[in-house]
Amino acid sequence: MYSKEVLKHFKSPKNVGKIKNPDALGKVGNLTCGDIMYLYLKISKNKSGKEIIKDIKFETFGCTVAIANTSLLTTMIKGKTLDRALKVTKDDLIKKFKNVPLIKVHCSLLAIDALSEAIYDYYKKHGKKISSELEEKHKRAEKVGEELHHRHSEIVELEEELHKK
Ligand code: FES
Repeated sequence: MYSKEVLKHFKSPKNVGKIKNPDALGKVGNLTCGDIMYLYLKISKNKSGKEIIKDIKFETFGCTVAIANTSLLTTMIKGKTLDRALKVTKDDLIKKFKNVPLIKVHCSLLAIDALSEAIYDYYKKHGKKISSELEEKHKRAEKVGEELHHRHSEIVELEEELHKK
């Protein structure tokens, strides 16, 4: 059912875990399946003074494709500038994985949304200019987060407890 590439990243996901005192955190969920993802970033500057992703880690309380996708995404953007990272789309992930079942396409979006949220978090904290596209994505993610919390508050609280440990 899944391609070799998906299974490879699912069985040995890269960059799983958490960064202590991250420079940015993206937390997103999906209303249909209830899956939740945390994406942590450490940011530094390259020789030209542009912000790059120095380190990246993720925790996914989700399905096979969500885990595989996020693992793949982290390998694609580690060391890249924030601008470059923001250009990666769900279609880029799907293309690399070939053969993602239609019902699992939203799982690729979860990884991309988590990245957008993390970069939004970083820009916000540092008073940087935020594009209207990123602002829109943030509003959507925030709405979904509120709805998820409302619908599954006990589960979300349990996940947040586990996440703190
Ligand atoms: Fe929810 Fe895959 S089924 S992210």
